[in-house]
Amino acid sequence: MSDTCLKFDNLTLGYQGHAAVHHLSGEIRRGTLTAVVGANGSGKSTLMKGIAGILKPISGACISEFSRLAYLPQQSELDRTFPARVIDLVSLGFWQKRGLLGRMTPADKTDLAACLAAVGLTGFEKRPLDSLSGGQMQRALFARAMVQDADLILLDEPFNAVDERTIGDLVVLVKRWVAEGRTVLCVLHDHALVRAHFPRTLLMARTLVGCGATDTVLTVDNLLRARGFQEAWDDNAAWCGDGRSLDDASGQVVAHV
Ligand SMILES: Nc1ncnc2c1ncn2[C@@H]1O[C@H](COP(=O)(O)OP(=O)(O)O)[C@@H](O)[C@H]1O
Ligand SMILES: [Mg+2]
Repeated sequence: MSDTCLKFDNLTLGYQGHAAVHHLSGEIRRGTLTAVVGANGSGKSTLMKGIAGILKPISGACISEFSRLAYLPQQSELDRTFPARVIDLVSLGFWQKRGLLGRMTPADKTDLAACLAAVGLTGFEKRPLDSLSGGQMQRALFARAMVQDADLILLDEPFNAVDERTIGDLVVLVKRWVAEGRTVLCVLHDHALVRAHFPRTLLMARTLVGCGATDTVLTVDNLLRARGFQEAWDDNAAWCGDGRSLDDASGQVVAHV
């Protein structure tokens, strides 16, 4: 395997033929921890779905090299009224290894208990999902990601509606995953948290404004540029497909002219 885990090659993603993010080019190295930041509607979740393979590119490519993927969608996309318990949710993480109808082995059960312990949910096995707080739900989702033993982990706003203590605990887990050689991309809004714990940052504003070391990406200049691109985006404009990049744009919309 190469050092590159993900490569975006002039990638455009969208819905019903309309671009939501466009002309992304860049790469993510294996074993790195990257914060994905940007305003609401800047395309962070769209990018996560593109990487996860849920959205197929309108044009360009997302080239990925990993064995197992764990994807935690934004909480707003989860249906917690489904009558399931914590253990049902977490044991879904074995699906990639055992298949949908495969039985858990004794080793799997030990593994599952260890993952629940790691996220502080021992004793919560039989709790219905709709009885969990936002923080407990996020802990359960992290336990499922651990069970999956993925080498690429995508977390979409895992710290939203989560108390400070849980954020601290989950950040420790994320760092442990990276120390184990896994690649993690995490969408979040708190720039102080990003600066303190995330060595790399990908800044979105319907395209990729910057991707690299956090202190070189989260600059005042880049944040202003991001705001300009975001404000200039026209959701109703026709799809251009011309491949022009942000650098041509001088702060103007490039895809939707
Ligand atoms: N399922 C969808 N169908 C149509 N448009 C969508 C869908 N999901 C997101 N969008 C649009 O794509 C753009 C980017 O959204 P999103 O990726 O959710 O941004 P973020 O996660 O940064 O808030 C927004 O204009 C949003 O309305
Ligand atoms: Mg989102």
